Amino acid sequence: MAKEYGHYDDAAREYVITDPCTPWPWINYLGTEDFFGLISNTAGGYSFCKDAKFRRITRYRYNGVPMDAGGRYFYIKDGETVWNPGWKPCKTKLDFYECRHGMNYTSIEGRKDGVTAKVLFFVPLKTWAEVQKLTLTNTTDKVKKLKLFSFQEWCLWNASTDMENFQRNFSTGEVEIEGSVIYHKTEYKERRNHYAYYSVNVPVQGFDTDRESFLGLYNGFDAPQAVLEGKPRNSVAHGWSPIASHYLEIELGPGESRDLVFVLGYVENAQDDKWESKGVINKRMAHETLSRLDTAAKVDAEFKRLCEYWDNLLQIFSVKSADERLDRTVNIWNQYQCMITFCFSRSASFFESGIGRGMGFRDSNQDLIGFVHQIPERARERIIDIASTQFADGGCYHQYQPLTKRGNDGIGGGFNDDPMWLIFGVCGYLRETGDFSILDEPVPFDNVPGSEKSLFEHLTISFDHVINNLGPHGLPLIGRADWNDCMNLNCFSNDPDESFQTTENKTEGSKAESLMIAGLFVFSGRDYVELCRHLGRNAEADRAQKYIDEMVVSVEKYGWDGDWFLRAYDYFGRKVGSKENEEGQIFIESNGWCTMAGIGLKEGLCDKALDSVKERLDSEHGIVLNNPAFTRYYIEYGEISSYPAGYKENAGIFCHNNPWVIIGETVRGNGKAAMEYWRKICPAYIKDQTLHKVEPYVYSQMVAGKDAFRPGEGKNSWLTGTAAWNWYTITQFILGIKPTYNGLEIDPCISPDMKEFTVTRKFRGATYIIEVVNRSGAQRGVKELLVDGSRVEGTLVPLAKEGSTVKITAIL
Ligand code: GLC
Ligand code: GLC
Repeated sequence: MAKEYGHYDDAAREYVITDPCTPWPWINYLGTEDFFGLISNTAGGYSFCKDAKFRRITRYRYNGVPMDAGGRYFYIKDGETVWNPGWKPCKTKLDFYECRHGMNYTSIEGRKDGVTAKVLFFVPLKTWAEVQKLTLTNTTDKVKKLKLFSFQEWCLWNASTDMENFQRNFSTGEVEIEGSVIYHKTEYKERRNHYAYYSVNVPVQGFDTDRESFLGLYNGFDAPQAVLEGKPRNSVAHGWSPIASHYLEIELGPGESRDLVFVLGYVENAQDDKWESKGVINKRMAHETLSRLDTAAKVDAEFKRLCEYWDNLLQIFSVKSADERLDRTVNIWNQYQCMITFCFSRSASFFESGIGRGMGFRDSNQDLIGFVHQIPERARERIIDIASTQFADGGCYHQYQPLTKRGNDGIGGGFNDDPMWLIFGVCGYLRETGDFSILDEPVPFDNVPGSEKSLFEHLTISFDHVINNLGPHGLPLIGRADWNDCMNLNCFSNDPDESFQTTENKTEGSKAESLMIAGLFVFSGRDYVELCRHLGRNAEADRAQKYIDEMVVSVEKYGWDGDWFLRAYDYFGRKVGSKENEEGQIFIESNGWCTMAGIGLKEGLCDKALDSVKERLDSEHGIVLNNPAFTRYYIEYGEISSYPAGYKENAGIFCHNNPWVIIGETVRGNGKAAMEYWRKICPAYIKDQTLHKVEPYVYSQMVAGKDAFRPGEGKNSWLTGTAAWNWYTITQFILGIKPTYNGLEIDPCISPDMKEFTVTRKFRGATYIIEVVNRSGAQRGVKELLVDGSRVEGTLVPLAKEGSTVKITAIL
């Protein structure tokens, strides 16, 4: 049995880490809206409000050594011993350590020499603040006299310049201290209208706000001079590096326990309401928040509210089966991860620094299918935000900034898969909610007022963008790249200072076409046709269907390599992903999408393609992206061939697109293969936590592939389209509960040994309890469907009355 660093506690919906020395920091996320925090199992990490780049509240060093240094630290000095509840940064050996990562909260408990320190970290709903409730307990029969120091280091707001512009930064830092509250107000005097604060709900016996005074210039977080000496400096920061540290002397009688509430908050003031008096910031809003959180009882009530919020979110879809790993994935962790990707897109994780990327157009549309059942109103708003960054010709800004909601000029557009994802996302939203009114919403182009057209028209121009950009084989031109950001067929870069994503050294006359976009176009194009028919727009449906039929013909004619689908045609019109190639002969994306779309299903193309995927791309840890991996740089392919073999887009297991093959397998009714593939990448089934390295409770973007130095090693955990794709796949294609415009379709595709399961699904105001019975050991095919005891033809459960509960039995 491989070493384990923790285990699941399903009843509490927590992952419990019992060893602080995890193979990599195992993190969690705090916050549900606006105010967020990243927190590792040793309390490392940082906080920000709304935008991880522009409104970074606390400082974090991504490239530090040792890694994950800096965070929310409490130092306890008990006699000569100094320790932290989360073991780091002092790393004093603890008598007990436990970290529980739950739904938007983390609790960390340490015990040393008869003292227990437990910290609960969370962000109350609708609050711009993080609460840290520290409970200290003396478990001995003697009096304990402790010295307690809190610690946070402020970021000078812009996380990027905070790491660069030291000639300025070292002179700008400003704080104010009022009782037990330390205010950080750098740049508030000029153009900022926001400040941060860090407080504790009891009087302090001292404080520090200047980093070097607290740590000592030659010490690290593990040995702050003030703590070692047991004496705060009461320093007031002027420039250099402002911090916030409270000092408390605490006496605990035998068996006594005490709660302390620390609050890290953020305030924005109106421009004409910034000051209380000259140089003194207006603290009214901070005081208001603090008065809501100034006792343990108030904090506990807020915590209860957060837990109820999650109870509600998680009761919309739940499954009960004979496999607890499947149940915990579906009922807890996959849904949780989808919500995190909703909040953070690809901005801030322990692999994404929070300064590099805004919200991706394609990423956000895909993420939508993971959370639309839980927060439909916010999904609606997200759709409008995304669509507003589209160009009038249907092209799209590849990313936009969450703070401004504007398209990002730095990266621009030209990724030709982007438009189709809008159709994908919007249809997902409509099936879940039935809210067709969104289609009439006026939505601008490139956010220009006056340019508005209905959302429906945005879908039409998205569809048309593909047909207006076809290449010599009638297949979609790829542009800068399709879903695979690293397949840069028009880039031709020999200059390491150029971006693979934004450089097109050759574009004129390019013949680079994508079979991935072709498959996506057929799959999501059909969604568009179905929507048009549903709306009674039959002429438009006919028009679109004609193009889809033509695309199918082009794929069958020019996109088939004999045993699988080609990946692309390059700039010169040569095949990519063909037996004829030296490396990169077969790729996952086109074979996933074309089989999902069922192209050539009757003629046996899907079967052949899926068998080839099994033979060439499958491995112990999942399906790799391409094979053979590229072993040299191909200037005509770009970034994909820049990665070492087996990593990232060069034959890594890109967990994001394994579901495409899994869905492809369900299209041909192979439930056994579908579930086998799914389990290979699903974190609940990880066999070796040390090898896997990253969190065992969430999907990672990539696991090193079979050609890698260390196959099976995970990277880029948390923020990845993998979460939504696996959610979509397991719920709609494997368990087979699909929302449709007219009801719930029940069409599972499972392993023959899965004999039964029950799903409880809230949908459009009614509750459906769906029992699937598979005594015959089938893989797919509902033989009998009973709705409240009466037999229904086909697989569709019609919409039930709002508020009602319907009992369904599906017999395979
Ligand atoms: C990353 C990007 C995503 C892209 C994928 C493949 O996950 O966020 O947009 O599709 O890589 O390159
Ligand atoms: C790199 C990564 C890819 C990601 C892209 C985002 O190309 O390999 O996964 O989508 O950067 O800019």
